[in-house]
Amino acid sequence: MDAVTRPLRYAVLGAGARSETYIRGLLGPHRADAELLAIGDINPGRAVHFCALAATLGAGEVVAFAPHELETVIAAQQIDRVIVTTPDATHAEFVVRALHAGADVIVEKPLTTDIDGARTISRAATETGGSVTATFNYRYSPRNSALKELIQSGEIGEVTSVHFEWVLDTVHGADYFRRWHRLKQNSGGLLVHKSSHHFDLVNWWLGDSPSRVYASGGLRFYGADNAANRGVGERPARGSVGAPSSDPFVLDMRTVSGLEELYLRHENHDGYVRDLDVFSADMTIEDNIAVIVDFSRGATLTYSLNAHSPWEGYSVSVNGTRGRAELTVVERAEVSGPAVVDPSYSDVLSGSDVRTEGERLVVQQHWQGAREIPIVDGDGDHGGGDRRMLEDLLARTAPADPLHRRADLHDGVKAVAVGIAGNLSLHSGSAVVLADTGLPGWEPATEGVHA
Ligand SMILES: NC(=O)c1ccc[n+]([C@@H]2O[C@H](COP(=O)([O-])OP(=O)(O)OC[C@H]3O[C@@H](n4cnc5c(N)ncnc54)[C@H](O)[C@@H]3O)[C@@H](O)[C@H]2O)c1
Repeated sequence: MDAVTRPLRYAVLGAGARSETYIRGLLGPHRADAELLAIGDINPGRAVHFCALAATLGAGEVVAFAPHELETVIAAQQIDRVIVTTPDATHAEFVVRALHAGADVIVEKPLTTDIDGARTISRAATETGGSVTATFNYRYSPRNSALKELIQSGEIGEVTSVHFEWVLDTVHGADYFRRWHRLKQNSGGLLVHKSSHHFDLVNWWLGDSPSRVYASGGLRFYGADNAANRGVGERPARGSVGAPSSDPFVLDMRTVSGLEELYLRHENHDGYVRDLDVFSADMTIEDNIAVIVDFSRGATLTYSLNAHSPWEGYSVSVNGTRGRAELTVVERAEVSGPAVVDPSYSDVLSGSDVRTEGERLVVQQHWQGAREIPIVDGDGDHGGGDRRMLEDLLARTAPADPLHRRADLHDGVKAVAVGIAGNLSLHSGSAVVLADTGLPGWEPATEGVHA
């Protein structure tokens, strides 16, 4: 692709909520470098919806296509890059097909959900020589970049251990239990779908590779059994039909701007139901997870994720041979109903008097006082990460980055490796050595090649 001097030609596959970030980026700040030519989805209604949005943003002709037409579209439109924003378990198929059809790929996290997916993507990248960029917007949020810079500076010495807790609130966290994510076969569970963001941050902060994983957890709040045990009575199967409900766990798409147009109106095409009850049966993912990870250079990570917290945010403590760094972030201090489902639909949020939204990075060396490190304003979605990530991924000549935020295929594999091994550990009850899994990069003969 280096010899191409015209704007790069893009197709987006997966016309759901996340695709809008890329479509607006391609047709907005990056239009001089990029040309959007095709939008594909299994649901023709949603593909056409985003083609119409593209037209209002001033695009030229953008064709809607079905997934089986991917290769034809790549050839006919001379597509340079495919952006994959379909559900997680479908990523591997589309990444492999796009590579073999001659395109490079930008794929949303998680790269894939299982060992087979990681192996087939790695093999296709080797066979075709195509490039695969895994997208990790959290690397680009200024607070996370500031922690990377601090660790990289050596101020706290060699990292010996990390303690990382992430809490999702009853709006954002609950939303994973309403739709495709609630089945592990679609998302890999939150350990892959959500925590791959967090494991990627740790891999990147430390510049190291995980080597062994132990996980414990379960479904303890959402789901029919937990609700019944708490005495919760009969509930509607879904939120957007029948009478409106004042229950904050019920999502009525008719009342949330953007959702009716994107999902409810197009159910007739594919039967994708976006608003299942979070206290219904048959979900197979966890809502409370604890993980211990060993890293190849000797550091240990203790990690936990909770998906039913009254507030949302995270805290990370990094212990080093010369001191300690602590990052605390409150992304949303409190939520009040009715349900909103994404930080970008933030019109019904409220603030708390006691817990305030904000971020704080503090460093302290042995025998010294603590010092707060200023963080530049993280405006925009995902702590300011989305805008900065698009600048890096979509600009024709991205500036040199001393923090190495652009994630490649190996970073994508490393990020899902902890979650995939964690799922094996949840199943077996034992710790999983990554070199025993068959994941690319940890074969016994090449262990540690990505460190
Ligand atoms: N980096 C982030 O912060 C972030 C945020 C949200 C979502 N994501 C990722 O983006 C991806 C999409 O998530 P979303 O929230 O937009 O989901 P979504 O359900 O809103 O959209 C997914 C789209 O894919 C389509 N689809 C489903 N199966 C398909 C198939 N076989 N072929 C083609 N299209 C198919 C659906 O019809 C839907 O339009 C996921 O991988 C998710 O992990 C990342």
